[in-house]
Amino acid sequence: MDNKINCKIDNGISVGTAIGKVILIGEHSVVYGKPAIAVPFHAAKVKTTIYGRKGPVGIDCFYHKGPLTDAPRVIDGLTQVIKGIVHSFSEELEDFSISIESTIPPERGMGSSAAVAIATIRGLYDFFGRMLTHEELLKWANMSEKIVHGNPSGIDAAVISREKTLFYIKGEPFMPFEFNLNAYLIVGDTGRKGKTKDAVEGVRKYVETNPRKGKYYIEELERIAMEAKDSIESNDPERLGRLMTEAHIILDRLGVSDDGLNALVSKALDSGALGAKLTGGGKGGCMIALASNKEEADNISKSLLDSGAKNTWISRLGDDLVDK
Ligand code: PMV
Repeated sequence: MDNKINCKIDNGISVGTAIGKVILIGEHSVVYGKPAIAVPFHAAKVKTTIYGRKGPVGIDCFYHKGPLTDAPRVIDGLTQVIKGIVHSFSEELEDFSISIESTIPPERGMGSSAAVAIATIRGLYDFFGRMLTHEELLKWANMSEKIVHGNPSGIDAAVISREKTLFYIKGEPFMPFEFNLNAYLIVGDTGRKGKTKDAVEGVRKYVETNPRKGKYYIEELERIAMEAKDSIESNDPERLGRLMTEAHIILDRLGVSDDGLNALVSKALDSGALGAKLTGGGKGGCMIALASNKEEADNISKSLLDSGAKNTWISRLGDDLVDK
């Protein structure tokens, strides 16, 4: 039975939404307390709809359609958050159904898990008629992210909940800043799932077994993030591009890139990009490239698609990221 069509609505309907994110610089080193820059990704969205419906709680999403009690482990973060929120309201876990529609490709480094959690938290608070503070939103989203990723820096939840570009340092107050850069960002999707949890664990092992080199790479990524901030503030796209490529080389050495990502990064550079790198956890997922104008961005996007990218998006940096 399709709950979306056949449900008996007796408690109204609530909707929560959220957008994706793209990490410009600083993934992985951000887990070690170093700065990172991430931008909201408005082209891809999640919409969670909560329906009043008699009986056990049902969920309809990318990974599962059926009772919440039968949900697979892959959505354990979300399941635990739903249970936790309902429990915190002293309500029973019954008589509603959750439907999640998303255009954020899952497990591609675009913040799908955090966005799904945030849209669902918003929907649930609305459904039960409770006020949601930003602190509570972050608390629940980070609880889900911990279950999904193990040791998240919190950058995804921070950017997605605020929908603002952030210069992010774990545990420090959020620092939004304005983009002042005449450049275009291209996002290329390998079409393959990234493996953020494995990648974060791989970096941890690398740093443990190669302490000297590991420390050096993390510190290099810190320097690159600081210089990237400076290059954005001084409207220097060439410098930002060079820094992005430098970051990619280090991420590759840390073992979080793969042949597919490296091929798309090389293709973007050969097609005139100012710089290119993987974005997010890596080991699959997405890459990004920087172009000085729209025409070059279009060329790079086309080359990426011709080389096997499943999808691309283009946006002027500082504007909302939109579909190409
Ligand atoms: O793959 P994503 O979109 O979840 O991004 C992960 C970013 C990392 O720095 C690799 C991990 C983290 O928790 O910040």
